Amino acid sequence: MDDKIREQWENNADAFAGLIDGMGTPHHREILNPCVERLLGDVKGKKLLDAGCGEGYLARHYAKRGAIVTAIDVSKRLIETSQQLSKKDAIKVDFRVDNVCYIESVHNPEFDIVLSNLVLLNVPCLEDALKEFHRVLKNGGILVFSIVHPAFNFYGPGAWQMGGRDPKTHRREGVYFKVDRYFEEREYERFWKTKAGDTFPKPISFFHRTLSTYLNSLSGTGFQLIEFAEPQPVGDDAFFDRERRVPFFAVFKAVKK
Ligand SMILES: C[S@@+](CC[C@H](N)C(=O)[O-])C[C@H]1O[C@@H](n2cnc3c(N)ncnc32)[C@H](O)[C@@H]1O
Repeated sequence: MDDKIREQWENNADAFAGLIDGMGTPHHREILNPCVERLLGDVKGKKLLDAGCGEGYLARHYAKRGAIVTAIDVSKRLIETSQQLSKKDAIKVDFRVDNVCYIESVHNPEFDIVLSNLVLLNVPCLEDALKEFHRVLKNGGILVFSIVHPAFNFYGPGAWQMGGRDPKTHRREGVYFKVDRYFEEREYERFWKTKAGDTFPKPISFFHRTLSTYLNSLSGTGFQLIEFAEPQPVGDDAFFDRERRVPFFAVFKAVKK
Protein backbone atom coordinates (compact mmCIF):
# COMPACT_ATOMS: atom_id res chain seq x y z
CA MET A 1 0.00 0.00 0.00
CA ASP A 2 1.15 3.39 -1.01
CA ASP A 3 2.03 5.53 2.06
CA LYS A 4 1.24 8.59 0.00
CA ILE A 5 -2.40 7.51 -0.34
CA ARG A 6 -2.74 6.69 3.36
CA GLU A 7 -1.33 10.13 4.20
CA GLN A 8 -3.67 11.86 1.76
CA TRP A 9 -6.71 10.37 3.49
CA GLU A 10 -5.29 10.93 6.94
CA ASN A 11 -4.73 14.61 6.19
CA ASN A 12 -8.03 15.00 4.38
CA ALA A 13 -10.01 13.00 6.95
CA ASP A 14 -11.75 15.90 8.71
CA ALA A 15 -12.46 17.76 5.48
CA PHE A 16 -13.86 14.56 3.95
CA ALA A 17 -16.00 13.72 7.00
CA GLY A 18 -17.39 17.27 6.79
CA LEU A 19 -18.76 16.55 3.31
CA ILE A 20 -20.75 13.56 4.51
CA ASP A 21 -23.88 14.95 5.98
CA GLY A 22 -25.91 12.14 7.49
CA MET A 23 -26.32 9.91 4.44
CA GLY A 24 -23.59 11.49 2.32
CA THR A 25 -23.44 14.26 -0.27
CA PRO A 26 -26.48 15.08 -2.44
CA HIS A 27 -24.97 12.83 -5.12
CA HIS A 28 -24.85 9.93 -2.68
CA ARG A 29 -28.38 10.53 -1.45
CA GLU A 30 -30.08 11.16 -4.79
CA ILE A 31 -28.19 8.76 -7.05
CA LEU A 32 -25.92 6.23 -5.41
CA ASN A 33 -27.44 5.18 -2.08
CA PRO A 34 -30.82 4.02 -3.47
CA CYS A 35 -29.06 1.86 -6.08
CA VAL A 36 -26.64 0.32 -3.56
CA GLU A 37 -29.53 -0.37 -1.20
CA ARG A 38 -31.52 -2.12 -3.93
CA LEU A 39 -28.52 -4.23 -4.95
CA LEU A 40 -27.78 -5.25 -1.35
CA GLY A 41 -31.36 -6.32 -0.67
CA ASP A 42 -32.35 -7.37 2.83
CA VAL A 43 -29.26 -7.21 5.05
CA LYS A 44 -30.95 -8.25 8.29
CA GLY A 45 -28.83 -10.77 10.19
CA LYS A 46 -26.14 -10.75 7.48
CA LYS A 47 -22.44 -10.23 8.21
CA LEU A 48 -21.42 -7.19 6.20
CA LEU A 49 -17.94 -5.77 5.64
CA ASP A 50 -17.86 -2.08 4.69
CA ALA A 51 -14.47 -1.92 2.97
CA GLY A 52 -13.14 1.66 2.92
CA CYS A 53 -15.89 3.02 5.15
CA GLY A 54 -14.81 6.68 5.33
CA GLU A 55 -16.70 8.34 8.19
CA GLY A 56 -18.90 5.27 8.35
CA TYR A 57 -22.34 6.46 7.29
CA LEU A 58 -23.12 3.31 5.33
CA ALA A 59 -21.82 1.09 8.10
CA ARG A 60 -24.15 2.83 10.55
CA HIS A 61 -27.05 2.76 8.11
CA TYR A 62 -26.81 -0.99 7.45
CA ALA A 63 -26.21 -1.75 11.13
CA LYS A 64 -29.48 0.07 11.83
CA ARG A 65 -31.08 -2.15 9.19
CA GLY A 66 -30.03 -5.23 11.14
CA ALA A 67 -26.72 -6.20 9.52
CA ILE A 68 -23.78 -7.27 11.69
CA VAL A 69 -21.26 -4.76 10.44
CA THR A 70 -17.48 -4.67 10.40
CA ALA A 71 -16.01 -1.58 8.76
CA ILE A 72 -12.42 -0.94 7.76
CA ASP A 73 -10.55 2.09 6.49
CA VAL A 74 -6.91 2.89 5.95
CA SER A 75 -7.27 6.23 7.75
CA LYS A 76 -6.97 6.04 11.53
CA ARG A 77 -8.56 9.46 11.83
CA LEU A 78 -11.62 8.41 9.80
CA ILE A 79 -11.99 5.26 11.90
CA GLU A 80 -11.86 7.35 15.09
CA THR A 81 -14.52 9.67 13.64
CA SER A 82 -16.64 6.65 12.64
CA GLN A 83 -16.35 5.22 16.15
CA GLN A 84 -17.42 8.51 17.73
CA LEU A 85 -20.39 8.90 15.39
CA SER A 86 -21.65 5.36 15.94
CA LYS A 87 -21.22 5.74 19.71
CA LYS A 88 -23.18 8.98 19.62
CA ASP A 89 -26.07 7.17 17.89
CA ALA A 90 -25.61 4.01 19.99
CA ILE A 91 -25.07 1.92 16.87
CA LYS A 92 -22.89 -1.16 17.10
CA VAL A 93 -20.26 -1.45 14.38
CA ASP A 94 -16.84 -3.08 14.63
CA PHE A 95 -14.57 -0.38 13.14
CA ARG A 96 -10.94 -1.25 12.37
CA VAL A 97 -7.98 0.43 10.74
CA ASP A 98 -7.16 -1.94 7.90
CA ASN A 99 -6.30 -1.97 4.23
CA VAL A 100 -8.43 -3.29 1.36
CA CYS A 101 -5.25 -4.26 -0.52
CA TYR A 102 -4.40 -6.67 2.29
CA ILE A 103 -7.04 -7.14 4.96
CA GLU A 104 -4.97 -8.15 7.96
CA SER A 105 -7.73 -8.28 10.55
CA VAL A 106 -9.90 -10.88 8.78
CA HIS A 107 -8.58 -14.41 8.60
CA ASN A 108 -11.55 -16.47 7.48
CA PRO A 109 -14.28 -16.36 4.83
CA GLU A 110 -16.84 -15.02 7.27
CA PHE A 111 -18.85 -12.33 5.46
CA ASP A 112 -22.15 -12.63 3.58
CA ILE A 113 -21.68 -9.21 1.99
CA VAL A 114 -18.76 -6.96 1.11
CA LEU A 115 -19.73 -3.38 0.32
CA SER A 116 -17.06 -1.07 -1.04
CA ASN A 117 -18.53 2.32 -1.85
CA LEU A 118 -16.37 4.65 -3.95
CA VAL A 119 -13.09 3.09 -2.84
CA LEU A 120 -11.66 0.97 -5.66
CA LEU A 121 -11.16 4.05 -7.85
CA ASN A 122 -8.89 5.41 -5.09
CA VAL A 123 -6.62 2.38 -4.72
CA PRO A 124 -3.73 1.23 -6.88
CA CYS A 125 -4.43 -2.42 -6.02
CA LEU A 126 -7.70 -3.28 -7.81
CA GLU A 127 -6.94 -6.99 -8.31
CA ASP A 128 -5.48 -7.48 -4.83
CA ALA A 129 -8.52 -5.81 -3.27
CA LEU A 130 -10.92 -8.00 -5.27
CA LYS A 131 -8.92 -11.08 -4.25
CA GLU A 132 -9.20 -9.99 -0.64
CA PHE A 133 -12.95 -9.42 -0.92
CA HIS A 134 -13.25 -12.90 -2.45
CA ARG A 135 -11.16 -14.40 0.36
CA VAL A 136 -13.21 -12.89 3.20
CA LEU A 137 -16.60 -13.75 1.65
CA LYS A 138 -18.40 -17.00 2.28
CA ASN A 139 -19.23 -19.12 -0.77
CA GLY A 140 -22.18 -17.49 -2.48
CA GLY A 141 -21.41 -14.20 -0.72
CA ILE A 142 -22.20 -10.93 -2.45
CA LEU A 143 -19.89 -8.08 -3.40
CA VAL A 144 -21.36 -4.66 -4.20
CA PHE A 145 -18.93 -1.94 -5.16
CA SER A 146 -19.31 1.46 -6.73
CA ILE A 147 -17.04 3.84 -8.57
CA VAL A 148 -17.38 7.15 -10.38
CA HIS A 149 -18.27 6.12 -13.92
CA PRO A 150 -14.93 5.84 -15.78
CA ALA A 151 -16.39 6.56 -19.22
CA PHE A 152 -17.97 9.81 -18.04
CA ASN A 153 -15.61 11.08 -15.43
CA PHE A 154 -16.81 14.59 -14.79
CA TYR A 155 -13.40 15.75 -13.63
CA GLY A 156 -10.85 13.62 -15.48
CA PRO A 157 -9.56 14.16 -19.01
CA GLY A 158 -13.09 13.75 -20.38
CA ALA A 159 -15.30 16.43 -18.80
CA TRP A 160 -18.29 18.61 -19.40
CA GLN A 161 -17.91 21.55 -21.70
CA MET A 162 -19.82 24.12 -19.71
CA GLY A 163 -22.30 26.79 -20.74
CA GLY A 164 -24.04 29.45 -18.63
CA ARG A 165 -25.48 29.11 -15.15
CA ASP A 166 -28.95 27.81 -14.45
CA PRO A 167 -30.63 30.74 -12.68
CA LYS A 168 -32.54 28.41 -10.36
CA THR A 169 -29.84 26.00 -9.27
CA HIS A 170 -26.83 28.26 -9.96
CA ARG A 171 -25.28 25.24 -11.53
CA ARG A 172 -23.40 25.62 -14.80
CA GLU A 173 -25.16 24.01 -17.71
CA GLY A 174 -23.45 21.09 -19.46
CA VAL A 175 -23.22 21.88 -23.17
CA TYR A 176 -21.59 18.64 -24.26
CA PHE A 177 -19.48 15.94 -22.77
CA LYS A 178 -15.93 15.29 -23.90
CA VAL A 179 -14.88 11.69 -23.68
CA ASP A 180 -11.15 11.42 -24.17
CA ARG A 181 -8.15 9.26 -23.21
CA TYR A 182 -10.51 6.61 -21.95
CA PHE A 183 -8.01 3.85 -22.62
CA GLU A 184 -5.17 5.54 -20.72
CA GLU A 185 -5.24 3.78 -17.36
CA ARG A 186 -3.39 6.02 -14.99
CA GLU A 187 -3.26 7.77 -11.66
CA TYR A 188 -4.28 11.40 -11.45
CA GLU A 189 -4.73 13.75 -8.50
CA ARG A 190 -7.47 16.20 -7.66
CA PHE A 191 -8.04 18.60 -4.83
CA TRP A 192 -11.55 18.41 -3.42
CA LYS A 193 -13.37 21.34 -1.85
CA THR A 194 -15.15 21.54 1.47
CA LYS A 195 -18.78 22.67 1.63
CA ALA A 196 -17.50 26.15 2.45
CA GLY A 197 -15.44 26.10 -0.74
CA ASP A 198 -12.03 25.67 0.91
CA THR A 199 -9.49 23.39 -0.76
CA PHE A 200 -8.72 20.09 1.00
CA PRO A 201 -5.25 20.04 2.66
CA LYS A 202 -3.95 17.33 0.30
CA PRO A 203 -4.82 16.14 -3.19
CA ILE A 204 -6.62 12.80 -3.60
CA SER A 205 -5.26 10.11 -5.91
CA PHE A 206 -7.60 8.53 -8.41
CA PHE A 207 -6.86 5.51 -10.57
CA HIS A 208 -8.63 5.66 -13.89
CA ARG A 209 -9.44 2.24 -15.34
CA THR A 210 -11.68 1.15 -18.17
CA LEU A 211 -14.94 -0.65 -17.55
CA SER A 212 -13.46 -3.76 -19.16
CA THR A 213 -10.65 -3.74 -16.59
CA TYR A 214 -13.19 -3.67 -13.75
CA LEU A 215 -15.37 -6.38 -15.30
CA ASN A 216 -12.50 -8.66 -16.31
CA SER A 217 -10.83 -8.24 -12.91
CA LEU A 218 -14.05 -9.39 -11.28
CA SER A 219 -14.22 -12.58 -13.34
CA GLY A 220 -10.44 -13.02 -13.02
CA THR A 221 -10.69 -13.07 -9.23
CA GLY A 222 -13.50 -15.64 -9.07
CA PHE A 223 -16.59 -13.44 -9.04
CA GLN A 224 -19.59 -13.73 -11.29
CA LEU A 225 -21.33 -10.49 -12.25
CA ILE A 226 -24.99 -10.38 -11.29
CA GLU A 227 -25.81 -6.78 -12.20
CA PHE A 228 -24.08 -3.73 -13.54
CA ALA A 229 -25.97 -0.50 -12.78
CA GLU A 230 -25.66 3.11 -13.98
CA PRO A 231 -28.03 4.77 -11.52
CA GLN A 232 -29.98 7.91 -12.34
CA PRO A 233 -31.16 10.53 -9.85
CA VAL A 234 -34.27 9.34 -8.06
CA GLY A 235 -36.09 12.68 -7.92
CA ASP A 236 -36.59 15.44 -10.46
CA ASP A 237 -34.39 18.10 -8.86
CA ALA A 238 -33.04 20.36 -11.62
CA PHE A 239 -29.68 20.33 -9.82
CA PHE A 240 -29.09 16.87 -11.29
CA ASP A 241 -29.82 17.69 -14.95
CA ARG A 242 -26.34 16.67 -16.03
CA GLU A 243 -26.50 13.40 -14.09
CA ARG A 244 -29.75 12.63 -15.92
CA ARG A 245 -27.96 12.94 -19.25
CA VAL A 246 -24.88 10.82 -18.53
CA PRO A 247 -24.25 8.46 -15.61
CA PHE A 248 -22.17 9.76 -12.74
CA PHE A 249 -21.68 6.41 -10.98
CA ALA A 250 -21.19 2.78 -11.97
CA VAL A 251 -22.21 0.05 -9.53
CA PHE A 252 -21.34 -3.64 -9.68
CA LYS A 253 -22.98 -6.57 -7.94
CA ALA A 254 -21.18 -9.90 -8.09
CA VAL A 255 -21.31 -13.25 -6.34
CA LYS A 256 -18.42 -15.35 -5.06
CA LYS A 257 -18.43 -18.49 -7.15
C1 LIG B 1 -14.19 8.39 -1.49
S1 LIG B 1 -13.95 7.76 0.10
C2 LIG B 1 -15.41 6.73 0.31
C3 LIG B 1 -15.71 6.47 1.75
C4 LIG B 1 -17.05 5.77 2.04
N1 LIG B 1 -17.06 4.44 1.49
C5 LIG B 1 -18.19 6.60 1.51
O1 LIG B 1 -18.91 6.14 0.62
O2 LIG B 1 -18.38 7.71 2.03
C6 LIG B 1 -12.66 6.56 -0.09
C7 LIG B 1 -12.27 5.91 1.22
O3 LIG B 1 -11.36 4.86 0.95
C8 LIG B 1 -10.39 4.86 1.97
N2 LIG B 1 -9.22 4.14 1.45
C9 LIG B 1 -8.35 4.54 0.50
N3 LIG B 1 -7.42 3.59 0.26
C10 LIG B 1 -7.72 2.56 1.10
C11 LIG B 1 -7.15 1.30 1.35
N4 LIG B 1 -6.09 0.87 0.68
N5 LIG B 1 -7.72 0.49 2.28
C12 LIG B 1 -8.81 0.91 3.00
N6 LIG B 1 -9.40 2.10 2.80
C13 LIG B 1 -8.86 2.92 1.86
C14 LIG B 1 -10.15 6.30 2.29
O4 LIG B 1 -9.55 6.51 3.53
C15 LIG B 1 -11.58 6.84 2.19
O5 LIG B 1 -12.24 6.74 3.43
